[in-house]
Amino acid sequence: MSRTVYVNGEYLPEEDAKISIFDRSFLMADGVYEVTSVLDGKLIDFEGHRVRLERSLNELEMQKPEAFDDLLEIHRELVRINDINEGMIYLQVSRGSAGDRDFAYPSEDVKPTLVLFTQNKPGLADSPAAKKGMKVISIEDQRWGRRDIKTVQLLYPSMGKMMAKAAGCDDAWMVQDGKVTEGTSNNAYIVKGNSIITRQLSNDILHGITRAAVLRFAKEAQMKVEERSFTIEEAQDADEAFITSASTFVMPVVEIDGDQIGSGAPGPIATRLREIYLEESRKAAV
Ligand code: PDD
Repeated sequence: MSRTVYVNGEYLPEEDAKISIFDRSFLMADGVYEVTSVLDGKLIDFEGHRVRLERSLNELEMQKPEAFDDLLEIHRELVRINDINEGMIYLQVSRGSAGDRDFAYPSEDVKPTLVLFTQNKPGLADSPAAKKGMKVISIEDQRWGRRDIKTVQLLYPSMGKMMAKAAGCDDAWMVQDGKVTEGTSNNAYIVKGNSIITRQLSNDILHGITRAAVLRFAKEAQMKVEERSFTIEEAQDADEAFITSASTFVMPVVEIDGDQIGSGAPGPIATRLREIYLEESRKAAV
């Protein structure tokens, strides 16, 4: 059965959903997005994603879609119609279509395009990968300088993912000036002794919604958090490593560039943080 998706005010079967070939997200990657996970048929960290979307739009001087204030209702309606218990909702806003190609932004009367669709992922929370842990490689960070804006320019992260796959690994951690920025679609962490170490917020990384929640839960559980950058060597020498994102929650990393981390199995802190995150976010889900 086909999915029902949302396009500019309408709920449609996916095969009937159409966007102009002149849409600026297609021609210029002039669009921003959010991914919100769904557990027990409810939205995880919805408010964080809504606030970050508004920030991305403001940073790019992009108009808010008309339905901005109805986003919670639209998310819930898509979950309901598509009967999603566990999975994700993808949302994209683009600067719309002026009916031609032009580097300059179109005038204000060109309205943004808003698209949402669901991804059904039964077993998302009880993932076997979380029990095994992931293997990552390091690659140079060749993305643009405004990674704090969640744009749809995802070609380099896709290339990184393919480089990881070619090396028999699951993902790539990107490195700039000798320090890890983040994973291709997640924030990166190491654990040394009692400290959880993750890069400080700046334009160099996406300000992860899961990151904010996990650091809050870690502090509440009396764990020590250090927001600073670290090298691949420091990561290889760490007791544990992990990533966070809306689609993976907290996911242990057990190998970096062929070097085993700690015991080579998911560590106790990453495992505990995953449990806390899942438990607390299920409670707060809307
Ligand atoms: N990616 N860093 C990057 C580069 C990301 O693309 C993401 C999310 C994150 C984690 O952010 P959050 O915790 O808010 O999901 C960090 C999403 C899941 C994606 O592109 O599918």
